[in-house]
Order: sequence, then C-alpha cells, then structure tokens
Amino acid sequence: MFLLSFVALTFSYLALAHEPSPLQDFCVADPNSPDFFFSGLHLMGNISNHLGSKVTPVFVTQLPGLNTMGISMVRIDYAPWGLNPPHTHPRATEILTILEGTLQVRFVTSNPDNRFITKVLQKGDVFWGLFISNAMWVMDMLWLLLAFSSQNPGAITIGNAVFGANPAIPADILAKAFQVDKSVVDQLQAKF
Ligand SMILES: *[C@@H]1O[C@H](CO)[C@@H](O)[C@H](O)[C@H]1NC(C)=O
Repeated sequence: MFLLSFVALTFSYLALAHEPSPLQDFCVADPNSPDFFFSGLHLMGNISNHLGSKVTPVFVTQLPGLNTMGISMVRIDYAPWGLNPPHTHPRATEILTILEGTLQVRFVTSNPDNRFITKVLQKGDVFWGLFISNAMWVMDMLWLLLAFSSQNPGAITIGNAVFGANPAIPADILAKAFQVDKSVVDQLQAKF
C-alpha cells in the first residue's frame, strides 16, 4: 500500500500531459500508404507468462493512421488469477469494457487521499481508470477491450520503473524512500 502511494506521488503529475488536438483530418506516418485498418484483435493473446495476462495493443505503432488522432485501443486477455501489475499511463485516460468473464479492478487516487478503490466488473460493464490500476481474473475466460485518449498512451509499470530502472536507482535512495532496509531493495531490484 505504501509502495503504491509513493508511486502515485511520484508519477501522478505525468497524467496531466496530453496531446494537442489534431489540426487536420489525418496525418498518417507514411502519406503514400494511408493506414486506417488493423486486423486481428479477435485473436486471444498468449497468456503463458508469469503474470498470466497479455496486452495486445493497437497504438500508432501498429496502426499508423492513428497519428494525431488522440485515440487507440488494446485487447487484454487473462489467465485464471492473471494480473496486470500496478501501472499508470502518462499520456492518456482509459475506458474499458468486459467482453467475457469477471474482472476485479483496483486503483489508487492521487494525493493527498491515496484512496484505494476496488470494483468487480461483469461482462458488459464499463470502467474508466485513472492513476494506478491493476486487475485480476476471477472466473472463467476473460477478455476485454480498452480504449485510450491517445494514439500513444505509454505505460509506466511501477515495479519496473522503480526497481528495474536502467541504470538502477541507487538502493540507498529507495531504502530511504520506502523506509526499508537496503537488503529489501536489493531483493526487489534483483527481481526486475
Ligand atoms: C506462448 O508463450 C510461451 C512463453 O513465452 C511460449 O513458450 C509459447 O510457445 C507461446 N505460445 C504460442 C502459441 O505462441
């Protein structure tokens, strides 16, 4: 809980960043090959990984025609008890809907409250996320569609950013910030 709060403090200001409104109808990355189409989001992602979840993005990288449009989407698949670890999107707000299954979503509001909010979503429910969210599969198959208010929303996964930074954040700084022994930080840094 402390960790989540700390990171909310560290990163929440980034959520203020956003893209300017588009100045023309479209501005594809390659003007000779306008790209308005992506195929394949009906396909399940590969959830055989330690988190038990898979994000399949359709950002400007996958669909160049989204350039300047300020929107994008992803599909997320979850294995039983799969997890999308705590993270935040520096350039976007997100909205999602459950297409199959049941999902528990969680997030922490910004300072000073850092209120932890949790909600179980069923098929057809719509949820918009802010700050840090994670999610866990709680019943059979689960997949969802999620839209972003950016063609390139970015993601800051808290564990990776704090304990897996490259080069590493000095362990004594993290030990002081999290009020733990440096050996705890060493252990966490080794995981990321
Ligand atoms: C899914 O990912 C696992 C682990 O990376 C890999 O071993 C497996 O071959 C992948 N399966 C498919 C269908 O790509």
